[in-house]
Amino acid sequence: MAVTIAPFGRTAAGEEVLAGRIENAAGMAVTVLSYGATVQSIQVPDRTGGLRDVALGYDTLAEYEANDGYLGATVGRVGNRIGGARFWLNGQEYPLAKNDGENHLHGGVRGFDKYVWDMAAGADSLICSRVSPDGEEGYPGALTVTVTFTVTADSALVIDYAARSDRDTVVNLTNHTYFNLSGGGSALDHELRLSARRFCENDGGCLPTGRLLDVTGTAFDFRESKPLGRDIGAAEEQLRLAGGYDHCFALEGGPAAVLYSPASGIEMTVETDMPGVQVYTANFLTPRPGKGGAVMGQRDAVCLETQLFPNAMNCWGFPSPVLRAGKPLSSRTAYRFAVR
Ligand code: GLA
Repeated sequence: MAVTIAPFGRTAAGEEVLAGRIENAAGMAVTVLSYGATVQSIQVPDRTGGLRDVALGYDTLAEYEANDGYLGATVGRVGNRIGGARFWLNGQEYPLAKNDGENHLHGGVRGFDKYVWDMAAGADSLICSRVSPDGEEGYPGALTVTVTFTVTADSALVIDYAARSDRDTVVNLTNHTYFNLSGGGSALDHELRLSARRFCENDGGCLPTGRLLDVTGTAFDFRESKPLGRDIGAAEEQLRLAGGYDHCFALEGGPAAVLYSPASGIEMTVETDMPGVQVYTANFLTPRPGKGGAVMGQRDAVCLETQLFPNAMNCWGFPSPVLRAGKPLSSRTAYRFAVR
C-alpha cells in the first residue's frame, strides 16, 4: 500500500488544496482532494487488466470551484433535501439556507463540498477533517467531522464517517461520486441490482413526501439486475417528476447495490450501514469537459449516495438524523471492485 499527499492547487481565496493518493498492490488507485474531501479519481483494472478511471471529475481546482453537481464530494452537514429549508428540534425552529427553490440541498449555499478540509495520511488511508461551526448554513452546534478514505488489499474503497457535536443537531453525510464503470460514455448500459423493495416517493422538487412506494411492477424494481436504461424512459410519474432516477431506496440487508459495466467487466458492490441509497442518474449534469477533456453529461454516470432518507425531519417514521450533543456518530460505506 502506498499513500502520498501532494499539492493540488490554490482556491480563488488563496487556500492550499492537497491531493492524496492511495494505491494497493492490485493497481487500484484512489485520489482524494482536500477541497470538499472529494474523490477525484478511482482507477481500477478492467477485465483485460488495463486501468480505467471509474469516477467522474475534473483536472483542475478551478473547475471544482466553478461547477455545480458535487462531483465526488463529501456532502453535509445534511446531504440531500430538507423541505421548506427548516426543521424543528427540541421545540425550536431552525431556518436553513435555501438553495434549491424553497428547499435546502446538500448542506446549503456553502456545504461541506466547498470547504478545504485538513488532510493526513494513514497507513492505507487518507483522513479528512473539519469543524463546521455553530450556525453554519443555519445548523445548530459546532460539529467536528472526520471522513476516512481507505483502500483495502481486496480493492475496496471504504469511507468511514465520524462526527460529534457540542449541541443537539442533525447530520446526514454521504459521498457524491458519479460512477461510470466503463471509464466514460453513457452509463445506461450499466446493470444495477438493489436490495430494495421500497423507495421514497418524491414530489415535483425531488423531495420525499414521507410515503414509501413498492417497486413491484414499476421501473424502480432493481431486485433483479437490469440495465439502468431499460425502464428509465417508462411513462411513470415518479420518473417524469425527477427526469430519471433521483430517488432514495429503502435498503433491506445484504449488499445495498451491485453495479456492473458489460463493456469493461468492472463490477462494484456497495455495502453500507445506512438505511437508504439515493440513486441518481446524473439527470442535471449539463454537458461539460471533465478529466482529460472528455465531455460528460446527463446519464453518463450513476451516483449511489448511501444515507438516511432525505427530508427525514419532516417525514414521520423516517430514521432520525438527530445527533445528540457529545454522542459519537459513526457510519461506513464500502465500494468493492472486481471484474467478471
Ligand atoms: C443529488 C440530488 C439531485 C441533484 C444532485 C446534484 O443527487 O438528489 O437532485 O441535486 O445531487 O446535482
